Parts: sequence; structure tokens; C-alpha cells
Amino acid sequence: ASKKLLLLPGDGIGPEAMAEVRKIIAYMNAELKSGFELEEGLVGGCAYDAHGKAISDADMAKAMAADAVLFGAVGGPKWDSVPYDVRPEAGLLRLRKDMELFANLRPAICYPALADSSSLKKDVVEGLDILIVRELTGGVYFGEPKEIVDLGNGQKRGIDTQVYDTYEIERISGVAFELARTRRNKVTSMEKRNVMKSGVLWNEVVTANHKARYSDVQLEHMLADAGGMQLVRWPKQFDVIVTDNLFGDMLSDIAAMLTGSLGMLPSASLGAPDGKTGSRKALYEPVHGSAPDIAGTGAANPIAMIASFAMCLRYSFNMVEEADRLEAAIAGVLGDGIRTGDIMSEGSTKVGTTQMGDAILAK
Ligand code: NAI
Ligand code: MG
Repeated sequence: ASKKLLLLPGDGIGPEAMAEVRKIIAYMNAELKSGFELEEGLVGGCAYDAHGKAISDADMAKAMAADAVLFGAVGGPKWDSVPYDVRPEAGLLRLRKDMELFANLRPAICYPALADSSSLKKDVVEGLDILIVRELTGGVYFGEPKEIVDLGNGQKRGIDTQVYDTYEIERISGVAFELARTRRNKVTSMEKRNVMKSGVLWNEVVTANHKARYSDVQLEHMLADAGGMQLVRWPKQFDVIVTDNLFGDMLSDIAAMLTGSLGMLPSASLGAPDGKTGSRKALYEPVHGSAPDIAGTGAANPIAMIASFAMCLRYSFNMVEEADRLEAAIAGVLGDGIRTGDIMSEGSTKVGTTQMGDAILAK
């Protein structure tokens, strides 16, 4: 099978973090004969500077043809006043839309070596390993009507519409059930069926999909607000959480804070499997942005980007052993007390971006 990777480093610390992934890919090609074919493209502010768009049609075509896309980060003060439809974020939004990336995977993992630096008690987070599967292309962010109506009496009305169709709930829950089978075999579905019709349908479709195809997986339903509470109270009760776009946005940010710095958090966005080949379009990116405040200083933590590449190995190329090794190397380096500034603690050794990348590669 081909292994075509498109690298879109983007702006700010994006290219700095991506450089560390490049080293790992070069090692894998040279020493493990992994056979990755690399392509490069521009996205975000750098693409706007080069050709006036946040991503060119040529680079978009490369993304559509790639087996996976690795995305760094986009944006920065330099582009704060460019026109709305070509602003840096528009590049990422176009990638998500054209590649139909409906499933956003956000793991929340607490590395043992960092359990002390969480804002929660150590026993609550130590060993935490959960995965939030957020629906990314539907729901209230996209439903119509979506408008502000002038009511004519000095009042206005802001309207957003939550819309979910059966097929959307079926495919996102299918992703969650399949992922659960590779983990601890449990899915918690979160909605608000007590007050939302879309929540009632969500619950019905997830239940039916479970019964028809995934009855070997343990399924539990939870109201999303109670789910938020449980995430903070005892997050280790969860394995895979599946939820809609809005609740997923909030719950994944809450889960992120269980584990510490933005510089640690990877993500994956997956499309539907191709009818013929079974392979999915996929984009992997750190959760953090371009961090203009530290860009160019060599201080960025590359772990979120490297862990995103580990997800790519696991989900796009089924290179489970390599993904496990890479994740173990990250945990090992943290265990050795090697830290970038954002995760620095007393008694640890402070390093920059390239030394962190080198240490992980050596491990
Ligand atoms: P940010 O995530 O870039 O930075 C927030 C804070 O976390 C900063 O203090 C930064 O130094 C720190 N930080 C982030 N990643 C880090 C890393 N890997 N290592 C060490 N420290 C790290 O978010 P912010 O400041 O709100 O946005 C900056 C720019 O990034 C804006 O232009 C924003 O639009 C863009 N952005 C892009 C995203 C993307 O490309 N997906 C996501 C979020 C923001
Ligand atoms: Mg968010």
C-alpha cells in the first residue's frame, strides 16, 4: 500500500514542531524501510503571502490525493487584518470540508511523569487514557437557519439550528465503536435527550447501531452535562466518549485540561472509508495554535505534533507497533525528566524544541 504523506507545517511554531516529525520520518524510512513518500504544501498565513489564499487549489489537490495529511498550525498577528475568507483558519476549514473529515479524535492521556502537574489530584488523572470522538461537520455550528433577525421593535433574534440526520449519527458512532474495539471496548454516548429532539434521535440511532453491528462493545448513555461533571470527578471511568459537535467542542477542551499543557495534545480528523479501498481521508494536527509569543525562539514543545504523527501511524497506516514505540518514547523521555518550558517542573532538565525531538528519536 502507498504511504503518501502531505506535510502542511503552516505558520509560527508549526514548522518548528514539524521539523521534529520530519526527523522521525527520515529515521523510519532509513532504518525501518517504512517507505513514506513526502509531499509539502503551504497553508495559512504563509500560503496567503505566497498566493493570496489560505490554501491553493494545487495544495488542496495534494491533500485529496494523500493517504494522510500532517498539519502544523496556522495564524499570527501578521495576518490579523487579511480579508475574512482568506484568513489563515480558512485553510484548515477548507481541508476539513473538502476532505469531509466528520470524526474528530481527541485523546486525553496523562503521562505518569506529568501526573503531579495536573490541576486535578494525582490519583484522579494518573494513568488516564481516554478518547473523545467529536462529530465535526454537522450540528448547531452548521444547521440552517442560522441568522440574526431584526424583529423591528428594537429587538434582534440570534438563531442557530441543531440538525442531525440518521446517517451522520450512524457513521460517527460507528467510528467510536470501532475505536473502542482496539482499546478497552467501552463507548459512552453523550447528548441531551431530556431537552433536545436531536438528542432523542442521537440516542436512538446509537442504540440501534450498537444492537445491529457492535453488540460486543459495552455501551453507556450519559446526559452531556452530567458527562462534563463525571469527566472532572472521575475521568478514568471512560474509554471512548462519542458526542456531537458542540458538546464535543466543550468536553474535549475540559478533558484536555486534565492532562496539562496544550503543547502535549494531539488530534486526528477522519473521513468516511472509501467504498473500494476501505482507506479513510485523514488529517492529523496538534490541538495548539501557532503560538506567536514563542515562535522563533526554539522553545516550542514538539510532543503534540509528534503524538499526532503517532496517531497517523496507528489510524491511517495500521502501524500499531511503531505507534506504540513512538508513544512509549515520549513517555520515556518525560520519565527521564526532560521538559520543554511549558511543562517544566522543579528538578527536571529544560530543553528546547530540537533537543526534545532528538531525545524522543534516541529513545
Ligand atoms: P496557541 O495555542 O497558539 O497558544 C496559546 C498559549 O499556549 C501560548 O502562550 C503559547 O505559547 C502556548 N503554547 C501553545 N502551543 C505550545 C507548544 N507546542 N509548546 C509550548 N507552548 C505552547 O493559541 P493562541 O495564542 O490563542 O493563538 C495563536 C494563533 O494561533 C492565533 O493566530 C490563532 O488564530 C491560531 N490558532 C491556530 C490553530 C490551528 O492552527 N489549528 C488553533 C488555535 C489557534
Ligand atoms: Mg474548542
